[in-house]
Amino acid sequence: MANVLVVGRGGREHALAWKLAQSPHVQAVYVAPGNAGTAREFVNVPIDPTDFEGLIRFAQEQNVTLTVVGPEGPLCAGIVDAFRQAGLRIFGPTREAAQLEGSKVFAKQLMRRAAIPTAEFATFDDPDEADRYLRSLGDVPVVVKADGLAAGKGSIVCDTPKEAFAAVDLIMRQRAFGDAGERIVIEERLRGEELSVLAICDGRTLARLEPAQDHKAAYDGDRGPNTGGMGAYSPAPMATPELLEEIDQRILVPAVHQMKRQGIPFQGVLYAGLMLTPSGPKVLEFNVRFGDPECQPLMMRLQTDLYELLDAAVDGRLDQHPAIAWDDRAALCVVLAAEGYPGKYTKGQPITGIEQAEAMADVKVFHAGTALRDGQVVVDGGRILGVTALGDSLPEAKRKAYEAIRLIKTPGGWCRHDIGDKALRWLVDQGR
Ligand code: AMP
Ligand code: GLY
Repeated sequence: MANVLVVGRGGREHALAWKLAQSPHVQAVYVAPGNAGTAREFVNVPIDPTDFEGLIRFAQEQNVTLTVVGPEGPLCAGIVDAFRQAGLRIFGPTREAAQLEGSKVFAKQLMRRAAIPTAEFATFDDPDEADRYLRSLGDVPVVVKADGLAAGKGSIVCDTPKEAFAAVDLIMRQRAFGDAGERIVIEERLRGEELSVLAICDGRTLARLEPAQDHKAAYDGDRGPNTGGMGAYSPAPMATPELLEEIDQRILVPAVHQMKRQGIPFQGVLYAGLMLTPSGPKVLEFNVRFGDPECQPLMMRLQTDLYELLDAAVDGRLDQHPAIAWDDRAALCVVLAAEGYPGKYTKGQPITGIEQAEAMADVKVFHAGTALRDGQVVVDGGRILGVTALGDSLPEAKRKAYEAIRLIKTPGGWCRHDIGDKALRWLVDQGR
């Protein structure tokens, strides 16, 4: 029997732990450090995801046979290398392979070498040169991106040249994201529908997951500041079988091959953030982990044993693993956010109604920013919960998720009301 350790504290980690616990191979699930939801269902371990030594010691003491890492920070800092050096089994990319997310310059160069469709770009380590380049472009709309990790805030989508100059200044001269702004990518601004396509990789072989769509903007109609994600659903109907085939052949497979060619085999989750443009799907970014909140609807739909799947990836035998099985139904996740999020928000407010919501059929409440105080679940982060429902159709999943989230109360708590509507509009436009 296996003991597994999930590293992280968000909704993604709750969903991963929940799915891993369903495996008949799994005896104990530990989450470090976890949240109120994982505390109730599994065993929380008060070790920070950056404390590799502490995590390794725990894994050795508790006989952990597989560790799964949620967030990009520890991956980019080399948690996989550290675990492997200690002789421990862990699912995720090495520090070098995690550059695919940790360095936008690395990712863009890899895409260029492998002829993977992505926005036209140039890279700079000198702000004055970046300014000269912007002047040469004139009025072309661009996105300015800090090279390194910036908690999802390092990409600035610019409407005017003035905004682009300001973005270069903010990232490179003011160093708003610290060393992440030593280099930048300036790229062509693309238009279209965004799509998240994730694949489990073992270095050679990849197993693509079902497509999902995130909702990054804070408010209805994709307005307001960017967030970590206000809701997600799967499947995404705009990802037709033909389009997915194209994404496999032109994006995912070449990326895995190119990593191998560069001597950095990629094991872990390869997450392609795509823009569906009139000239085909193009990569906005690669991530090296499950998306949050995409992971929540994906885990609701996954029927394959997640432990067996990740175990096969760690052993480099995905080619022998059977095709991944999915629930045909749609899953939709709505995030309950704290008052003030994504800006400053307060913590400690009580949350009620979670049990009532979970009592609904085909509803699962994944915790994210929650903690337990004297037995009461309280707010402990900006994204509090991901209320996720399965339904025979996307409208049905949406109806159930919103019915469930209405049962949950916390002072100042709010959510977007239009999760999934882009898919519904797309279906109407297609006359389906
Ligand atoms: P990234 O940090 O690269 O994932 O970008 C974050 C968000 O910025 C994406 O989810 C998009 O909404 C937007 N974005 C990034 N690159 C582009 C681009 N080239 N054109 C338009 N929007 C973009
Ligand atoms: N949902 C977007 C991300 O995980 O990066």
